[in-house]
Amino acid sequence: MSYEATRRQVLSSAIASTIAGAAPGAGHAHAAEESLSARFSRSGRFFGSAIQIEEVSREHDLRSAVLRECDSFTPEVALKWNSVERSPGSFDFTSMDALANFALANKKRLHGHTLLWHKSVPQWATSLLFEKGGWKLVHRYFQAIFSRYGHAIAQWDVVNEPIETGYRMDGLRGSVFLQAFGVDYIARALWEARGLAPEAKLLINEFGLEYDLRVEHDRRYLFLKLLERLRNAGAPLDGVGLQAHLDLAKGGLSADVLGRFLKDIADLGLFIVITELDVKEHEYILPVEQRDARVADETRRYLDIALAQPAVRGLTTWGLSDRHSWLQITKDDLARYPEAWKDGSNPGVNRGLPLDYSMNPKPMYRAIAESAGRRR
Ligand code: G3I
Repeated sequence: MSYEATRRQVLSSAIASTIAGAAPGAGHAHAAEESLSARFSRSGRFFGSAIQIEEVSREHDLRSAVLRECDSFTPEVALKWNSVERSPGSFDFTSMDALANFALANKKRLHGHTLLWHKSVPQWATSLLFEKGGWKLVHRYFQAIFSRYGHAIAQWDVVNEPIETGYRMDGLRGSVFLQAFGVDYIARALWEARGLAPEAKLLINEFGLEYDLRVEHDRRYLFLKLLERLRNAGAPLDGVGLQAHLDLAKGGLSADVLGRFLKDIADLGLFIVITELDVKEHEYILPVEQRDARVADETRRYLDIALAQPAVRGLTTWGLSDRHSWLQITKDDLARYPEAWKDGSNPGVNRGLPLDYSMNPKPMYRAIAESAGRRR
């Protein structure tokens, strides 16, 4: 069945429930071994994962795992500007069509990641954005995306990672968008999206907002100030995406600090989605059981704080299995243990996702499953 036909067929059910904020099929009791999405749906929340359709199509065990555990998918790469418009005006939706088809055919919601991100601007666009009428490029791209997926995707990261500390008083990242269009580019992008998708939920997505560190305190403060400015200006912002790339080298999570930050966002009338949870390990020298226990403990600490906030509507992990993750063990990580692995052994991969390389649930999976039971 073509993407168009599939889209029409499942359109009504997916959109209706997504806009209502409840996950499709919410409330269905499952057998003892409930999936993560079933557990989250009992508190009216969703559970999802970032996917690359090429990997899911190739690996049947991954395919079954994402279909079983998730009721929401985020395109890890396929929807990004430099993925869909590799040359001016010529759009290639092959990968995103396949992903959207897979989601709709399996009644899964989609999270639109991401429209404006300083790291996914097509090379050909960088200079053209500065020319007179440069915004036309943004409009054309938004129009191409919303006209094709506006009916299938109800929630969008319109702007990704707008905050950067240490440069401007307002904390705005000096991106090509800020330089070309000024400080109002964020509100302008939100209005552009609202015009093209009147029903959709529009979000700003950001990282580095979790830990009790000076720089992350500053990021939380500057991010909140940005949200307040947008709300005061009446910009069509519905929610916030918190990436939550946790890091075991970053020290403690403070329930007070993080809890208050989430409440401050909720008090602005914005809902919250945890959009890219994973855990960067630190002590790769430890036995796997201890490594997995630390990853699970950090996940549980974070989710116990985050899921206590009723404005949090759902959780997406940035991948489901350690087999596919942007988190790699770096040379620096290995250099910290010059004497280790001389016997030819190695630490394997970063173990920062719920399922191991063979799709078996890890302690992190259990931590997420147990946290899911938290009432909203
Ligand atoms: O698909 C091509 C492959 O054909 C080619 O052989 C290979 C080597 O160049 O590149 C592959 O494309 C890579 C793509 O991931 C698919 O794996 C791109 O080079 C690489 O840049 C891209 O990285 C993605 C990155 O965003 C940039 O888009 C990561 O997978 C993805 O995890 C990462 O995700 C970001 C979020 O969007 C925003 N928050 C942080 C997060 C992690 O950086």
